[in-house]
This record gives sequence, C-alpha cells and structure tokens, in this order.
Amino acid sequence: MTDYKTLEREASGRIEAASDLAALEALRVEYLGKQGSISGLLKTLGAMSPEDRQAKAPAIQSLRQAVSEALAERREAMEAALLEARLASERVDLTLPAPETPGGSVHPVSQVMDELAEVFADLGFSVATGPEIEDDWHNFTALNMPESHPARAMHDTFYFPDQDHAQGATDGAQGHRTLLRTHTSPVQVRTMLSQGAPVRIIAPGRVYRSDSDATHTPMFHQIEGLVIDRDIHLGHLKWTLETFLKAFFEREDIVLRLRPSYFPFTEPSVEVDVGFAIESGQDGKGRRVLGGSGDAPGHGWMELLGSGMVNRRVIAMSGLDPDEWQGFAFGVGVDRLAMLKYGMDDLRAFFDGDVRWLRHYGFSAFDQPTLSGGVGARA
Ligand code: DAH
Repeated sequence: MTDYKTLEREASGRIEAASDLAALEALRVEYLGKQGSISGLLKTLGAMSPEDRQAKAPAIQSLRQAVSEALAERREAMEAALLEARLASERVDLTLPAPETPGGSVHPVSQVMDELAEVFADLGFSVATGPEIEDDWHNFTALNMPESHPARAMHDTFYFPDQDHAQGATDGAQGHRTLLRTHTSPVQVRTMLSQGAPVRIIAPGRVYRSDSDATHTPMFHQIEGLVIDRDIHLGHLKWTLETFLKAFFEREDIVLRLRPSYFPFTEPSVEVDVGFAIESGQDGKGRRVLGGSGDAPGHGWMELLGSGMVNRRVIAMSGLDPDEWQGFAFGVGVDRLAMLKYGMDDLRAFFDGDVRWLRHYGFSAFDQPTLSGGVGARA
C-alpha cells in the first residue's frame, strides 16, 4: 500500500529545496498538474470499491492539501525574498551630495542696464526702445544733422547697401538709407513722435560704430534719457544726473562738473565730468575711484556723458511745438559705467564670451538690483 506520509515528506523536502519560482512551478505540475502524480492517485479512487475508497480518500485528499499548502507557502516566501532583494538593490541613498549643476551668470552689461532701469524707475522714468537697424532720418536728420553734416562721417557709421542708389537713383535717398544706429538718440525722436508730450523715458540698447581698440568696440551699449514737459530746464538736468550717479555708484560724494560743449541735437549742450581720486591698489598701480571734487589735491575730472537742452529743431521735427514743449536729454555709455563701477579695464573682454571672465565679473541671477537694497549688491 502506498505510504502517503512518506510521499508527503518527500514532496515537502523537494519543495523546501526548490531554488527558484520556475523550479517550484515544475514541482506543482509534477504533483498537482493534470498528469501529476497526486492527481493520478485521486483518479484511482473512482475504480475502487466503496470500502477502499472510504479508507483511502481522506489520506489522498490530505496529501493533496498538504502539498498544495507547502507549494503556496514556499512561493510566498520566495516572492517576499525577491521583493526584499529588489528593494535593497534599488535603494536611493539620500545622504549622497547632489552633483553640482553649472550655474550661469548675468553679464555685467545686463546687470548695469537693470540697475539703471531701477534707479530711473524710482525717478518716474519708463523704458523706451527703438530698432537697431535704423534709417538715416531718425539717426541723423531728425536730430539736426542734415545730409552734409560732418557728424555723419564723424560717427563712422555702418551703412547697409543702399537699394535706391543701387538702382541708379541720385537723390531722394535720404530717410531711406538703412544703417546700424550709431547712438540711442533716435529713440528720442521715435518716442516724441509716437507718444507726444510730456515724456520721461530712458532708452537702453546696442549701438554700432566702425571703431575698435581697448576702449572702443564696433558694438557697444548706451542709455539715452529724455524729459520733455512745459518748463523743464538745465537745473532739472543737473539734479537728475547727480541723483542718478549717486544712486548708481552708491556714493554720496559724487561731484559733477558741467562744461559747455556742442551736440547738434542740444542747445545749449553740456558735457558732464565726474571727480575722482587716484588711489594706489595692492599691486601699486593707481586706481581711479569716483568721488570728491576733481579740483581737490590728488584728484581729477573724467568725462562721463553728453547732455543738454533738446534743440528746438529736434522738438519740431519730432512733431511737437517747441514754443510749448522743452526739455533735456543725455546719453551715456553703459559699458563705460560698468567698467568704472566694477573695475574692468579692457572693453573688448566684455564681448569675447570667455566664461572665465564671466565667472569672475558675472552676477547671480538672483541678485535683483533694487535702490533700497543697494543696486549693485552681490548675493
Ligand atoms: N548721442 C551722443 C553720442 O552718441 C550722446 C548724447 C549727447 C546724447 C548729448 C544726448 C545728448 O542725448 O543730449 O555721442
């Protein structure tokens, strides 16, 4: 007679020893599958006499029950072990330092433009813009520089190939010649034409001249200022420039000297100098530090910007009545302001795109200039 207990012990031994789920499945098929040995035993019950069946059925049933429980138990244990191993191998180690992501920086020119916009916003100025590809009417004619004016050559302008001339036209091309604007002053004209008066704007942007050495690049940046109202005078100009330069350079002791000058688009015209002291740096080289009167011992004046009362002819060409409206304008080099404030000495490096230079002189993107926080504060 078959010894069901021995069969059960043997099966549970093999189930215990099964090395993986596939081996376990093979055992299940071997015992409990359609052709399995225990299934076979169950089938023999049908051919037995009722007495035999009654005697053997419970033993075979309990054998089947025991083997199927052993299989399920072993399967559960194997799956739990597999899950455990997977969790261990896929663990994220949160204590590892994160890899450093390379951070960009804000170019000093952008930083200074933001600082200037911030200072002038506090003085009630908004920001105006104009095209870099300009026509000669806005860039010269409307600014009181007629066709024959020597300043047109003086500027060493980049002209575009002129279509009218190319087609053989000899005149009438004025106002249609396109060029890269040589200054931000045409934005004065565009703003008066489009907005009318009163006006209180600054216009930052790129300008172009055929010029290249340590202090000149063919492309550079300017900020134009324009205030037009009914009774604006030179005193307003002087106060505005003083207030802006003190805030921008973050020094109360900025002293300005206004010198008579000439620009076609202003009358009278004023060149503005700022006083500086020569301090010797650690390398023994003299460094210009803005502040104090240029006439004081050990001091000097440096030219900073051009300005004046807007010429009546410019106001008229910009569509306003010069008997009703008047005001001042100024133009200043942004790159020059950046060099003075942050101590760079070669303008060309501004536009080389050398990341080492940017890493040294660049600003954090989170370092938003504000007047109250100090416009040039470094994060
Ligand atoms: N446009 C002049 C230049 O590029 C600078 C300038 C001078 C602008 C006097 C002005 C001004 O608005 O009033 O050299």
